Amino acid sequence: MRRPFIVANWKMNKTVPEAMDFIYSFLPAVAEVKDADIVLAPPFTALFALAERLTGTNVGISAQNLFYEEKGAFTGEVSAPMLVDAGCDCVIIGHSERRQFFYETDEVVNRKTKTALKNGLSVIFCIGESLKEREAGMTFEVLKRQLANGLKEVDFQKLVVAYEPVWAIGTGRTATPEQAREAHQFIRSTLRELYQDGADSVRILYGGSVTPENIDSLMACADVDGALVGGAGLKADSFERIVKFKRGNTW
Ligand code: PGA
Repeated sequence: MRRPFIVANWKMNKTVPEAMDFIYSFLPAVAEVKDADIVLAPPFTALFALAERLTGTNVGISAQNLFYEEKGAFTGEVSAPMLVDAGCDCVIIGHSERRQFFYETDEVVNRKTKTALKNGLSVIFCIGESLKEREAGMTFEVLKRQLANGLKEVDFQKLVVAYEPVWAIGTGRTATPEQAREAHQFIRSTLRELYQDGADSVRILYGGSVTPENIDSLMACADVDGALVGGAGLKADSFERIVKFKRGNTW
């Protein structure tokens, strides 16, 4: 049994006061949840303040990106040691918005993943097919390529994989539990095939229009070990409900 891992990816939302407002009601509401890892991923500007506030609580903190070099003349970038210094436990790498709007390739994603792990951060490694790719019957091919290239020579100890079909992100169109289950099983078997050791302990999250209404049926699927939540993670009460998904009944 893998421990559930639930992340709120705030993307480019929330100032420091807004982040503080969120945790003011969220922290007490989830204080009793001991059987899941709960993580907030604010923008860079709120990391330090939030990390200080979350020290000693059951809520961890993640960045949404980093650069693969550790320091130097890279204007506008943030390094893995800087994230550690700001109090981060994890970092999201390879989100489809990074791949789409900032042209991140599998090779860049691979370099970022290695740097993050080397510096002791856990990595939430995102993969997923576009609608065009799904309709062309290429879903498995795309997932396999992203895993094989993005995780080349990567140590699995602190790795979490997030399956986020691009067509489900921010669209209100969630994958059905059957679609999620099928993709997660494929990812699990690919991890076993490509890397053998450690593949079974890697948690695989589902992301893409997760809501309080669909979280229970998604979490009931075997191999769905958690969720990467965008829009529904911006409000404390809806993210609380997601963190408190119904336990048991896996199929
Ligand atoms: P969404 O975003 O829940 O708003 O679809 C998910 C994500 O991009 O991580």
